[in-house]
Amino acid sequence: MTGIPERIKGCIFNLDGVIVDTARYHYISWRRLANQLGFDFSEEQHQQLRGLSRMASLEKILEWGDMYMTEAEKLHWSDVKNNWYVELISNLKPGDVLPGALLFLRQVREAGMKIALASASRSARQVLITTKLETYFDAIIDGHSTRKAIPDPECFILAALAIGFQPYECIVFEDAALGVLAGLAGGFHVVGIGNPDYLPKAHLVIPGFENLSFPGMLANFSEASLTHS
Ligand code: G6P
Repeated sequence: MTGIPERIKGCIFNLDGVIVDTARYHYISWRRLANQLGFDFSEEQHQQLRGLSRMASLEKILEWGDMYMTEAEKLHWSDVKNNWYVELISNLKPGDVLPGALLFLRQVREAGMKIALASASRSARQVLITTKLETYFDAIIDGHSTRKAIPDPECFILAALAIGFQPYECIVFEDAALGVLAGLAGGFHVVGIGNPDYLPKAHLVIPGFENLSFPGMLANFSEASLTHS
């Protein structure tokens, strides 16, 4: 593994907004729900929902709309939103994979790494199947396997366990600020994806996978980030 630090053995990817642009379908469905309830919220506000569980997302949206719901109503409306979301993602295709992500996954595999998915979404496996990415993952941790939402590191720890490595042997790829914090709390190396202003704690921030080589990215990790645990 020339040029690749020996201690890195696994890569753990979040899904929504990291590998596939499903965040916009979450936004469309949540906004439709808010509109039915008589209010609206912006795409910028929606950024705050990245990585949150379904129920935590609904509770935040209700706060924005200054609305109260009983637990039974929350369950009902989160189901309604999920049905809309599932319908939208049923049309996903391999072409919906974010630019460069497929090539990057191949390079990670060629470098001899194990690959895991860590997502809070109960539809994560469905997204991987429709985009034909499922076979790239040695383990899939999704909303069915986790009980604690980020910033708790549970999903990443389960993913590391599933591929047989310790957190310090894995890199987590995350687009959500809370997800970055979760990775750090679990003792992982963390690559933030997106705007560095929103992901100040990540060990390294990249705009996306387009034109990025895996060995090249590893070379950009600071010595400190690779030896921090
Ligand atoms: C991911 C997404 C969130 C979503 C959550 C639960 O973390 O970033 O926006 O709310 O999964 O997804 P689900 O499809 O189970 O409602």
